[in-house]
This record gives sequence, C-alpha cells and structure tokens, in this order.
Amino acid sequence: MSESFIKNIPVQEYDVVIVGAGLAGTSAAMDIQKAGKKVAVISKLHPLRSHSGAAQGGINAALSAEDSPDLHAFDTVKGSDYLADQNAVEFMCQKAPETVRWIANCGAVFSRSSDGHIAMRPFGGATKPRACYAKDRTGLALLQTVYEQAIAAGVRFFSEWYVSDLIYKDGVTRGVVAFDLLGLNYTIFNAKAVMFATGGYARAYKVTTNAHANTGDGLSIVARHGLPLEDMEFVQFHPTGLAGRGILISEAARGEGGRLYNSEGERFMEKYAPESKELAPRDIISRCIAMEIREGRGVGPKKDAVEIRLMHLGERLIMTRLPELRDLAITFLGQDMIVEPVYISPTAHYSMGGIPCDIEGHVKKDSRGTIVTGLYAAGECACVSVHGANRLGCNSLLDALVFGRHTAETIINDLNNGTLILHKVTAEDADAAIGEVEGILHSKGEESVPVLRDRLRESMTENAGVFRTEESLLKEREILAELSERYRHIHIDDKNRVYNTDLEEAIELGHMLDYARFIVEGAIARKESRGAHFRYDYPERDDKNFLKHSYMFMHSDGTIKIEYGDVHIGKFKPKKRIY
Ligand code: FUM
Repeated sequence: MSESFIKNIPVQEYDVVIVGAGLAGTSAAMDIQKAGKKVAVISKLHPLRSHSGAAQGGINAALSAEDSPDLHAFDTVKGSDYLADQNAVEFMCQKAPETVRWIANCGAVFSRSSDGHIAMRPFGGATKPRACYAKDRTGLALLQTVYEQAIAAGVRFFSEWYVSDLIYKDGVTRGVVAFDLLGLNYTIFNAKAVMFATGGYARAYKVTTNAHANTGDGLSIVARHGLPLEDMEFVQFHPTGLAGRGILISEAARGEGGRLYNSEGERFMEKYAPESKELAPRDIISRCIAMEIREGRGVGPKKDAVEIRLMHLGERLIMTRLPELRDLAITFLGQDMIVEPVYISPTAHYSMGGIPCDIEGHVKKDSRGTIVTGLYAAGECACVSVHGANRLGCNSLLDALVFGRHTAETIINDLNNGTLILHKVTAEDADAAIGEVEGILHSKGEESVPVLRDRLRESMTENAGVFRTEESLLKEREILAELSERYRHIHIDDKNRVYNTDLEEAIELGHMLDYARFIVEGAIARKESRGAHFRYDYPERDDKNFLKHSYMFMHSDGTIKIEYGDVHIGKFKPKKRIY
C-alpha cells in the first residue's frame, strides 16, 4: 500500500474505493479485485451486518419453462406504476437467471424443489412464481456467499470505518474522507473511482424494517455537493411488519398462502384486489391495510393492526419455509403463527429513490443524463431506475447483485480505457469533513440528538407516510426546517474518541434531516398518486403531467430545487393497474 502523509492526515491511494459492504458493494469489489485493480471497501459495519442480510423472501429470476425475462420485465414495469425506466428493467430481468445460477454455483444454498431445481415461490405482483429463496433467510445466504468470495479474492475491507465526505472538486471525483470508529483517526482515501453502495433511507420513519444503519448517509453526502437525488418521494411501505415493531414478516408468508383479515373476520383483500388478493403489489396492500385500520376495523389493543393467518398452512410447511418468521413473531409479539394469527401493519421498508445513475452505474449530474466522471452508485442508494414508484418484492437482491456487478464491469472498463486518473488531493480537501465531525464532538448546545431524531421519525410517519396531503406535507416541511435549525445547537455527552456511537448517531441525524427534505419536497411537488406515493388530494395517477422522474438539487442556501426528466418507455405502454 502506498501511503503518504499530508499535514498528518494519512492518504491511501486506490484505483477504486467502494462505500458500503452490502450485496452491491461487496460483489462489485470482488469483481474489481479479480480484474487486478486495487480496491478498498469502507463500511460503518462489519460487512455481514449489512442490511442486505436482512432480506428474507427471495431473489427473482425467471427460471421456469412457463416464465420468461419478458414477463418478469412486464410485472416489474406494471408494479412500478410505469415510472421505471424500461431499458434498465429489461436489462435486469434478462440478467436475472444467469445471476442466480452464478451465485448458486458460488455456494449460495438455495431451497430446492423435490426434483433438485432451485425452488421458486409466488410473490406480490408477479404473474409466475419466480422468487428463488433460501428458506426465509435469502439475503443472509447471498451476502455470506459473496463476502466469502470477496475475501478469497483478496478484497481489502475497512470495517467499522465511517465515510464522512466525498472529495469532489471542480467536477472531478478524487476520493473520500473517512475515520475509524475505533479511534477517530482520519484518512483520505484517494481514488480514481468512488462507488457508493450505502443502502436505503427508511430510518427516517418511526416504524420500519430497516436496520439502525440505514440512515441514507451516502445520499446526503452526494447531495451536499450539489448533485441531484432522484425520485426521493417514493418510499415503500411493506404491508406486513410486526405490529408496533415494524420488523419484517416476509411477503413469503403471503407467497406461501397467508391471508389477511380485519377485526370483522373479513378477508378484506378480496374486495380491493379480487384476482390477486394478498399477492397484489405492496403499495396497494399497504394502503388497503391502512384504510381498514383508519375505518375502525383494526385489531389489537390499539386497533392499529390487522391479522395475517397462516395456521391453515400447517406446522411442517411453516417450519421448513418460514422458520425465522415464526421465531420473530413469538419473540416480539408472543404470537405463534402455527396456532394463532399474527398482528401486522405497514412498515417503511425500501427506498425507490436515490442517487441517479445510468444503466452502466455512472452517477448523473442532471436530468439530461450528463455523467460525473469517476463517481458510481449501485444497490438501494442508487436510482437506475428499475423500481419506479413501487418495487416488487425480491427485485431488491436482484438489483443489488446485477447492478453491483455491472457497475464493477463499467469501472474496470473506465479504468482500462484511461477515462479515470488519480487526481491529487490535499489536506484541505478533508477540512470541511473533519471540521464537521470535530464540531459535533465538541458541541455544547442544548438540543438532544435522540429527541430530534424521534420527532423526525414520528412526524415523517404521520405526515409523509402511506397517505399524504398538501396540508400534511407542508406541515412536515415546517417541522423539518425547525428540526434542522435545532440540529445546529445539539450537544453530545460522550466526548471520547473511541467507539463514540453518540458522535456517529449525531452525524447520521444530520444526514437524515437533509434527505428527509428531499422526500417531502418531491412529495409536495408531485400532485398525483403513483405507486407508493399516495396523495389523498390527488388520488389519481396523472401521466400527462407526472410520468417523469424528479431530480432534486440542494443549493448552498439550503433550498431544494426540482427539475423533471423523461421516463424511458419501451414496449410496455402505461395502462391502469388492475390486480
Ligand atoms: O418480504 C420480503 O421478504 C422482502 C423482500 C424484498 O423486499 O424484496
């Protein structure tokens, strides 16, 4: 490793630095390392604690004779409420079978059917069973496999290191500034290419399936450099989180035959989606559940949940295909799905919006698709956009693997053809990042980070959740302005430099407050309902005015400006979605 010191800040040089060690980041690192490039992966967690490992239900691939990548693409586009870019969707769905076979060959232990083939189960919005799964722990099985492969290839991981800034100057990407959580020692990672794979941002909501780490750091870091974020108003609510907890009860429960009931014992999805019922897409089912609860047909002590019933599936099926879900429901609600219903309600789950990217993984700097040299993104933090306004279950692991690896290929090509060079860095490039971190460490204000964070998460759930109105969103805009002002006066109690989680949480709150404003501004401007974005005051989809992607920019005075860009429409012309 070539290492030099500029004013006591170590500088390490790499061809590629990847921020985030989930499925997208780790698979990309593995391929880049195998191509003989020098790569570092920086992650605030141990890679195996990345949120990809929490994905339960499966990964989509059209492997059966009666299915096809084309049908997979159609389901994905329809599920997206026609906002997905169809060229990107077709690419992902075509790549799906070879991607699943590749990772199975690497050692991922998929559940098998009796004839030995990879088993597939139905999932919401899919016309054929195409969710390939490893019981109800699919993400973990894939992440462990990819991590093993990356270690075997010799990838260098900086685990429990926190990236606090991107070095992006004069339109040129130069690397990142990071520090180790163990000792708060700053390092500049100077690189020819930087790839963000930092995951999603649903921690801005109170009830969520997301891990504590999903605070959207990568998005805010990019946005603070004046680069856009795309389609941020689209946040997916998974229909079945454990009531009051938000912990994921996989769609696999419905894929295997689980049914939803209200307090009157009515299987209510029969009236909302007569054909698909519990296998309608997530946006629709989440709204139906929320509607049942709003209209007084909820169950539980607060009447804020509905029931999922699985008893008819029998103990054997539950224990072989859904064992983790059963454990979770027993542990957190004391409800055993083998013998009784489990209480569930919608929970913030997935971020369709993110850092705008083209299919090759290049970050875009405007709605016209101009790319930022040396900057790449993949996985949930990126918006390619394959999910449009609503993602189908099991397309997330697929997106992470397909675009993680494809972005790696792009970076390798860009390195090989001389597009990327190592741009010099100086100690001053780290000044802003270090100033911010040290400022928080030594802060003596009167505001408490947990108090502000709770207020943020509660108000976002209340005002920018499953249902939205102009009034609720304008209220949230005011709340966010107030919280951002109060954030300038925070204090943290722990002043140590060793594993200072107070400090980390305070930095993360700053990121959450920034990207939450993009969610709200995008939602205010989008005066229609599409996919996961439902406006009571504009309940219909409006293709004439809003069949477009939003690109939002944060200006130096803190205001957010929006421009709109075209959606790539291919052979699937927008139609009303009926399930
Ligand atoms: O329900 C689930 O198992 C989640 C899968 C996904 O979000 O893709």
